[in-house]
Amino acid sequence: MGELFAVKSVDQLRSDAEHGHGLKRALGAFDLVMLGIGAIIGTGIFVLTGQAAAANAGPAVCLSFIAAGVASAFAGLCYAEMASMIPVAGSAYTYAYATMGELVAWIIGWDLILEYLVGASAVSVGWSGYTVEFLKSMGINIPKTLTSAPYLWDEATQHFYRSPDLAIINLPAVIITLLVTAILVVGVKESARFNSVIVVVKVIVVLAFIVAAYPFVNPQNWHPFIPPNTGTFGQFGISGIFRGAATVFFAYIGFDAVSTAAQETKNPQRDLPIGILGSLVVCTVLYILVSLILTGVVPYTELGVPHPIAVGIKATGIHWLEWAVEIGAIAGLSSVMVVMLMGQPRVFFSMAQDGLFPKFAAKVHPKFGTPWVTTITTGVICAIFGGIMPIGVLAELCSIGTLFAFVLVCIGVMILRIKRPDIQRGFKVPFGTYLIPILGALCSGGLMGFATPASLARLFVWMIIGLVLYFFYGAKHSVLQKDILDGLYDAKGNALKAPTHNQDTEVGFSPIE
Ligand code: ALA
Repeated sequence: MGELFAVKSVDQLRSDAEHGHGLKRALGAFDLVMLGIGAIIGTGIFVLTGQAAAANAGPAVCLSFIAAGVASAFAGLCYAEMASMIPVAGSAYTYAYATMGELVAWIIGWDLILEYLVGASAVSVGWSGYTVEFLKSMGINIPKTLTSAPYLWDEATQHFYRSPDLAIINLPAVIITLLVTAILVVGVKESARFNSVIVVVKVIVVLAFIVAAYPFVNPQNWHPFIPPNTGTFGQFGISGIFRGAATVFFAYIGFDAVSTAAQETKNPQRDLPIGILGSLVVCTVLYILVSLILTGVVPYTELGVPHPIAVGIKATGIHWLEWAVEIGAIAGLSSVMVVMLMGQPRVFFSMAQDGLFPKFAAKVHPKFGTPWVTTITTGVICAIFGGIMPIGVLAELCSIGTLFAFVLVCIGVMILRIKRPDIQRGFKVPFGTYLIPILGALCSGGLMGFATPASLARLFVWMIIGLVLYFFYGAKHSVLQKDILDGLYDAKGNALKAPTHNQDTEVGFSPIE
């Protein structure tokens, strides 16, 4: 079985990043902030704000955003330190490999697969909600049987039940997923450029909502600001604010995607922290404003719909803006899908390079230069989830999976500060080794505790499947384990002899530009 807690040499990772990864260093700080915002603003603000306000927190959903934002900021600081120290593709997976060993790295990589896959599915459902609404305002009505999940989840009985609309499939969600997948197979370059344009549109739409809806705020809608708890944990009151935070945490997911572009960044030491923290700060401010204004314009009880921001605009009576917001939301959600469906194959790619997945997963398309096997596999599974599952189930599963990754990254920062104080860090978490990482792990772990038991159970099942795969495949094919057996490294990541195997791994898909 080998050394389960063997760590990858940080120096080797850094040198691999410098030579022979095949990815061009093309991105600067501004590109990364754009990439971050592209990944962050999406279904969370456009859809889940309304759902969390209606079901959990009422107008206090802005406090949910603050709680989730604080947890993200702590984790963001830790991500920034990791990313500036180990500037390679693979995100938290790679960081864990260098700090907590192969088993934990596998767990986190497997968890990231869940995050990107299920996250992209959740966003596709949000995209569907706005598209259907937009088409309706143009006089085109798609039957409900083709625009929603066939099964819904009942929290009280902990069962899926047949949708009252007798829905068959969420067809728009399936279509957008397959479309984005096709774009990504043909070329990441084109899609990233397309992404930058959409990011601008998305931010303008959010600002337009804030400016246009502000004069229509009726402070009466904010009373009571924290609706009293109904007697059920998580339904309003203080527990509702935190259950809401576990839901709207989804809105912050994405800044970690910036770190997956580390290998394609010109000056990772400086630019990664700027990219991660910069995009997080911009989005947090926008979220707080949007949630306050939305619940001030429309009573929170009316916001549990697939397109709450459009409902908010409707209340202002400015019809052209309603269309503009719908188009902006549709474009914005597409850009989130691009980043998520682009991040997923990169994690897969790193894991396959390390021998934890079969090498064919790291195959690069001969003509397009993209990781087509993983991109298509991801796209098809994502389309199935988006076509049949309700958004709440998908978003919450994605949220707690990500929170779990955050906990591990925060712990990893502490471990690496203690074990490898010598490594140069372009960015260091302030206030010493312990304070921020411990706060980060506690906040993220604490928010997981407010998720529904069903979501925690689903995460648990996913992890068990992952462990079975690891012990039956990954542990036996790991490149690191082979290196240790061959006497190239010890289990602590110290080089004993020069490795030779890195040259023959299949790498080299197009960089993000
Ligand atoms: N943060 C992204 C969104 O809200 C995942 O859609």
